[in-house]
Amino acid sequence: MRKVERSKVYRLLYPTVPAIIAAAHQGKVAAMPVVSLVSLSNSPPLVGFSSSASHSTYKTILEAGRFSVSWMDRRFEDEITRLGTSSGSKTPDKLRSVGLHHRPGKVLGVPLIEEAAASLECRFSLSQRLGDHNLVVGEVKSAQAVDDFEEYWTFQHYSPLLYSGLGRSFRGPYRD
Ligand SMILES: Cc1cc2nc3c(=O)[nH]c(=O)nc-3n(C[C@H](O)[C@H](O)[C@H](O)COP(=O)(O)O)c2cc1C
Repeated sequence: MRKVERSKVYRLLYPTVPAIIAAAHQGKVAAMPVVSLVSLSNSPPLVGFSSSASHSTYKTILEAGRFSVSWMDRRFEDEITRLGTSSGSKTPDKLRSVGLHHRPGKVLGVPLIEEAAASLECRFSLSQRLGDHNLVVGEVKSAQAVDDFEEYWTFQHYSPLLYSGLGRSFRGPYRD
């Protein structure tokens, strides 16, 4: 066994399927991928993710009081990389800037990515400071998925991204 730096322990959790968090406020659309999304409660349905307070998306969520979660097929690897390696602080619509389309969700009006395989509309519940990040919790008010999801993903059509770190393959650690 080799020693792992404690600040890099999160990398032991890879590969992880990233999700896109998006929020809109006063005409601005913010978005970023997260690897830290977790289901926290089934009733009520609560999801949470860890965010640096410096992220434009985090600030927009606090202003909007709501956010969306989207899962993307791996063919959107480039778009997800661009969302995750640029700040949207000076971009009016970060989703559009990387070529993704969105429309307001029917329940909360949050920006839902049209190319997504599944998406949630969430009401912001709380943000709790934990070390250098914040745990952001939201209550799911609406959820939708493409037909590949039949109680569970069948993976007949949906092929999720497997993130292993920037500049590394999104397709997982396995060699062909
Ligand atoms: C695949 C991927 C997953 C990421 N996961 C997280 C995460 O869980 N939490 C976090 O704070 N940042 C995460 N990041 C970094 C943010 O997405 C990144 O800093 C982004 O540019 C923030 O954009 P914004 O400032 O426009 O909100 C991730 C980046 C990538 C590429």
